[in-house]
Amino acid sequence: KVMDQLFGMHQLEKQLAKHFGIARCIISAGDSDRQEKVVKNFGESLNESLDVLLPEGKNIIAVMGGTTMAQVAECLTNLESNERHNLFVPARGGIGEALTVQANSVSAMMAMRSNGEHRALYVPEQLSSDTYRSLMKEPSILEVLNLISQANCVIHSIGRALHMAARRKMSEKEILMLKQANAVAESFGYFFDEAGKVVYKVPRIGLQLKNLQTVPLILAVAGGKSKAKAINAYMQNAPKQTWLLTDEAAANEILKGE
Ligand code: G3H
Repeated sequence: KVMDQLFGMHQLEKQLAKHFGIARCIISAGDSDRQEKVVKNFGESLNESLDVLLPEGKNIIAVMGGTTMAQVAECLTNLESNERHNLFVPARGGIGEALTVQANSVSAMMAMRSNGEHRALYVPEQLSSDTYRSLMKEPSILEVLNLISQANCVIHSIGRALHMAARRKMSEKEILMLKQANAVAESFGYFFDEAGKVVYKVPRIGLQLKNLQTVPLILAVAGGKSKAKAINAYMQNAPKQTWLLTDEAAANEILKGE
């Protein structure tokens, strides 16, 4: 029976990876909308995947924020060795989230749990363009932006468009625009329609979507039946090297009708 279940999950993983044309899917049993422990399983899968994927030498890992990212960060264990050293950086500047789920906090937690290092990026919200320009000349900020641009691994989640817009307190005008553009997914501060096309971009410094194409290792962590549409939208045009860590509920909903 256990073997049958494992085999069934393996088939589902293969089917989903084929559906998106991506490198790999790892599916946890259950529905993360309803079961806390499923998010823990994402964390364990992420930890194992990083251990397998991260090469020897110095790795720069750029991470995004969000509640999923904050929870999986807690699950990392030692990823350092004599040959392998990891530096975690936030992938983008402030994006209007609560402190505990900001990319800075996630990267610090990941570094702490995995015995790696981290650098913070301190860029406040809503700057005047003058302040912005002078901040961009600040050596400590430039140093981190430079590290971000050299990242060989990116870890991010995927959210529902309007849910994220509300959580980040975007303006009514922006929300109306997102509705009109049929935005269903959000990742990295970009919004996507059902076909995976970018319909809006929140102006932020750091990793841009076009830089993602050349990053060798990308892990997307998102699950729950409620996120199926968002995951399906974003993943259609996601870089092909992406590994998707998701759950059975999202996978079944995405593949329904195939
Ligand atoms: O960009 C995606 C969001 O950060 C996902 O947030 O993990 O809280 O659903 P969440």
